[in-house]
Amino acid sequence: MAKVSWKPGNMIYPLPAVMVTCRDQGEDNIITIAWTGTICTNPPMTYISVRPERHSYEMIKNSGSFVINLTTKALVKATDFCGVRSGRDVDKFKETGLTKQEAQEIDAPVIAESPVNIECKVEKIVPLGSHHMFMAKVVNIMVDDDYMEENGRFALEKTNPLIYSHGSYFESGKQLGTFGYSVRKKKKRKRHNGKKSK
Ligand SMILES: Cc1cc2nc3c(=O)[nH]c(=O)nc-3n(C[C@H](O)[C@H](O)[C@H](O)COP(=O)(O)O)c2cc1C
Repeated sequence: MAKVSWKPGNMIYPLPAVMVTCRDQGEDNIITIAWTGTICTNPPMTYISVRPERHSYEMIKNSGSFVINLTTKALVKATDFCGVRSGRDVDKFKETGLTKQEAQEIDAPVIAESPVNIECKVEKIVPLGSHHMFMAKVVNIMVDDDYMEENGRFALEKTNPLIYSHGSYFESGKQLGTFGYSVRKKKKRKRHNGKKSK
């Protein structure tokens, strides 16, 4: 297989593009972030990497907290907008029409239209270069109960999660398997009258 070599860069895609909400000195803001992910299961830890020149950077540094709001197909326009306009110039809640709700464990707004709001407290800021990484502990999660199934499962896939890949936004496709399906034993088919059921 022929390959083309590129200079080192970031090519880990697809990713979520999340809307991060923050509050500092009575001001609320939203910033779109793609450099985010899980870094520990227990305790639950996450990160966002933010350029120091972003308006949100100082806000998050001062307050020590932020909310990761997961995005959906329905939120794609707002997600893009919050990634190309600064809170220095516009009120992004007002411009996007997104509904503000209060977080439960931290003093910050959450986006009501987002199906999952992850409340985070900053533990450490790691200056890396262009971006500084806010390592944070997850202190609360709120989910939209419209997607709760009777058995207590949260049907995240039904929210139509937004995918960001190499500069473009996509909606999710069809399910290909579930965790561990490659090694899971197939259930035996029930036989009726000695014949295999179809
Ligand atoms: C899809 C997308 C992903 C982005 N990811 C990041 C990111 O991970 N880190 C970052 O610092 N900026 C990122 N940005 C840029 C900021 O969202 C953008 O500069 C924003 O206007 C900053 O807002 P603020 O000045 O109100 O903080 C992203 C923008 C888009 C559209």
